Amino acid sequence: MKPGESTVPLRPRILSGVQPSGKLHIGNYFGAIQQHIERQETGDCFYFIADYHSLTSVKDAEEREAGAAAKTKGVPPRSARLILADNVRDVALDYLALGLDPSKATFFRQSDVPEVCELAWILSTVSGMGLLERAHSYKDKVSKGITSSVGLFTYPILMAADILIYRSHLVPVGKDQEQHVEMTRDIAGAFNHAFGEVFPLPEAVFNEAAVVPGVDGQKMSKSYANTIEIFAEGKALKSTVMSIVTDSTPVEEPKNPETCNVFKLYQLFASPEEQANFAEMYRNPMVNAVARNGRPFGYGDAKAALLSAIDGHFAPARERRKQLVRDPGYVEEVLQAGAKRAREAARVTMRVIRDRVGLHVG
Ligand code: TRP
Repeated sequence: MKPGESTVPLRPRILSGVQPSGKLHIGNYFGAIQQHIERQETGDCFYFIADYHSLTSVKDAEEREAGAAAKTKGVPPRSARLILADNVRDVALDYLALGLDPSKATFFRQSDVPEVCELAWILSTVSGMGLLERAHSYKDKVSKGITSSVGLFTYPILMAADILIYRSHLVPVGKDQEQHVEMTRDIAGAFNHAFGEVFPLPEAVFNEAAVVPGVDGQKMSKSYANTIEIFAEGKALKSTVMSIVTDSTPVEEPKNPETCNVFKLYQLFASPEEQANFAEMYRNPMVNAVARNGRPFGYGDAKAALLSAIDGHFAPARERRKQLVRDPGYVEEVLQAGAKRAREAARVTMRVIRDRVGLHVG
C-alpha cells in the first residue's frame, strides 16, 4: 500500500470523544455531534465521554466557579469532583436526547476502560518530545490560563490511545482536533514501525459546512463566552439570539447576507429555499415590505426567524432530555453496557500490544 492511501473498510470503526466541560452549544452540534449521530447508521461507532481528559481542566473550572460565586453571593460554588460528575451526566443526557441510539452505537465513559491509560504509557515511549511540543492546543490552553501540567502536555498521547485502542478508522471531530488526529497517526506509525503493524492509521473527518459564528461573530467557543446553548429555551434563548452582533445598516436599506452573523447561523437550520427567501428579504427589504404590511425586513425580524428555527430544530430533543432526566437509572445502564462492550474490545487490543512489546500476557 502506498503512503497516504486510505485503508478504511466498508463498515469502518468510527470513534470520537467529547470532553465533559459544560453546556454543549450549537458550534459543538454542527462541528461534531450531528455527524456522530448520523454516522451511527453507517459505521461501527464508539463514542465516549472523555472524563480522564477533563481532569486536566476541572480544577480551573472549580476556581472560576468559586470566583464567580464570591461576586454574586448566591449559589454556593461546586467542588471539582462535583463539577466533573455533573458534566459527565449532562453530556450523557445531551447525546441521548440528541439521538444517540445505544442499540446502534457503543456509548461509554472513558474512565470505565482504564486499559486506555496503560496504552497511553506504552505509546508515550514511542512519542517524541518534539511532536508534543508542536501541539497548538497545549499552547492555546496555557495562554488561556489553564494550569499547565504534565497531563495537559501529554493530553494528545491519551487521545491517541483512545483512538488506537479501539483500532479506529475514522474520527469525526471539529477542525480544532485536526492536529491531534495527525499526531495520533504519527504515534501509530512510530509504534507500527517499532513493533510491527498493529494499528490502522486513523483519518479525521469533518463536517465541512460547519463554520459556526458565535453571537459576537468570532468562532463559537465556550472560551469566548459567545455561545448559543443547544438546550437553552424560553427567555434565555431569546436574549442570547437577540444579542447577536449585526452592523448598523438602517432597516430600510439592503443588507448583505454573506457578511451577517444572523444569516450564517440561520443557514445551518434552514432549507435552501428558506435561505434563498431570507437572503432576498435582506437584499430588498423595501420591495418585500409590501407583502409585510409596509414593514421592511430588519435585523430584528431576522433574529426572530433564527430564534424560531433554533427553537423548532431542538424542541424534540429538549422534550426527550426532560424525560431522560427523570430516569437516571436508564442513563447509567446505557453507559455501563457501553463500557462492557468497549472494554472487551480494548482488552483484545491490549493483549496484542503487551505481547508485541514483550510484556507478560496473563
Ligand atoms: N480532545 C477532544 C476534544 O477536546 C476530546 C477527545 C478525547 C477525543 N479523546 C478523543 C476526540 C479521541 C476524538 C477522539 O474535543
